[in-house]
Amino acid sequence: MPKTAFLRPRRTAVADPMLSLGSLLRDWLPRQRWFAGKDRPVTELGLLSMTELFPGCLHLLVRTGHTAGPAFGGGPSGGDCYQLLLGVREHLSPRLGRALLGQAEEGPFAGLTVYDALRDPRSTQLLLERLRSPGSAGPLRFECDPSVPVPAGLPPRVLDAEQSNSSLVYGDEFILKLFRRVQPGINPDLEVPGALAGQGCRRVPAPVAWFRTTHPQEATLGVLQPYLRDASDGWTLAMRALATGDDFTAQARELGRATAEVHLALASAFPTGVHDESGRTAAAMTERLDSAAHYVPALKPFVLRLRGAFGALVACDPGPPAQRIHGDLHLGQVLRAGREWFVIDFEGEPSRPLAERRTVQSPVRDIAGMLRSFDYAARQRRPWRPEWARRCREAFCAGYAARAGWDPRKKHGLLRAYETDRAVYEVLYEARHRPDWLPVPMAAIERLAVRGD
Ligand SMILES: Nc1ncnc2c1ncn2[C@@H]1O[C@H](COP(=O)(O)OP(=O)(O)O)[C@@H](O)[C@H]1O
Ligand SMILES: [Mg+2]
Repeated sequence: MPKTAFLRPRRTAVADPMLSLGSLLRDWLPRQRWFAGKDRPVTELGLLSMTELFPGCLHLLVRTGHTAGPAFGGGPSGGDCYQLLLGVREHLSPRLGRALLGQAEEGPFAGLTVYDALRDPRSTQLLLERLRSPGSAGPLRFECDPSVPVPAGLPPRVLDAEQSNSSLVYGDEFILKLFRRVQPGINPDLEVPGALAGQGCRRVPAPVAWFRTTHPQEATLGVLQPYLRDASDGWTLAMRALATGDDFTAQARELGRATAEVHLALASAFPTGVHDESGRTAAAMTERLDSAAHYVPALKPFVLRLRGAFGALVACDPGPPAQRIHGDLHLGQVLRAGREWFVIDFEGEPSRPLAERRTVQSPVRDIAGMLRSFDYAARQRRPWRPEWARRCREAFCAGYAARAGWDPRKKHGLLRAYETDRAVYEVLYEARHRPDWLPVPMAAIERLAVRGD
């Protein structure tokens, strides 16, 4: 752990910073939207690295969990690694009240006030300064695309979106996404947009600067990219169209086209799969279904038929080759700026191991994700509007087919299997987190099991 003047132990020869921060973090972490282990107390908390980014501002990687595991952990059994930016000072100005973690009682920061430095414009301005010029701080490495100059002094603001990470917008020109749950390796949200920019794909904002750690393992920590001003996400636009009764099929068709363009660029930028993985995919889907049915009894009457849908994967046309995909595509992951759709957030499903998220998969998985999203939008309010969803789904597939050269609607068996797999995931999610919403994916389960369309 790099030691700096600021961090020099104050009272004892060996002062563990966690003596100061441990109890504050145990209380604060579970209240953060991006913290995955909300339903469990933080029983284990360890410091993986601490770097003084500038006086009074600490960059930390902490490990939370239950058992000893790999350095970064990687899920419920091995624990999780989180990235934090904490400020430590004598007094906190009242305007930073919301950022307060509390006062350290023991250890090297005893008597000092600890707060969330992401909410402190002075700290986030200095963070942008670090990103503007390549260099290092302890194990942290700051890198940038020298062809895109970032002006100094852009005013920062925290984006208060419902996010699984934290983002800062600088002067409405750039957005910095700080990955909260860190896994070893390059994050696909840096890797993929970087590779797509290399292909000349304009559907994805290209990384401008980024930073990573080299300790305890190599991992991506944050990415700065151009901010799409006046953009609205697809979910907001769909909600608006549903409320006003405006047609959304033209936008859905363009979105299908944009998705196909991103898929084509991904297939050129990364190697594609050669083997037919349908047997393994069907087995994994069946396993997920069986374990979900164990937890959610409402699924049980449909299990036999849905297993049939997965089994049919092996027999049906394997469809387009496996390739790198988005991995978590839905209406909340697309932005419309001007008259164009952009695709963001290539992290994949953060709950899955990074290595798995970087493997090739069927592009049908992304298509199914978006089709399910139209269905969710149409079932936000009563009366449900399944017809609205059906028209958007048709339009999306038509737009996709026009650009990709193959029509998802003609891969009926594949689409049904991937939609079912997604709906099973949703059933489990809703049962755990929002039981009132369970009827939404259950309606899809019923449709997919009974009619299969
Ligand atoms: N390049 C961008 N331009 C404008 N807004 C953006 C951009 N990237 C992200 N956002 C905004 O930030 C939100 C969260 O971004 P996202 O990458 O999806 O983070 P998360 O992984 O936390 O879901 C988006 O829904 C969007 O509102
Ligand atoms: Mg997102």
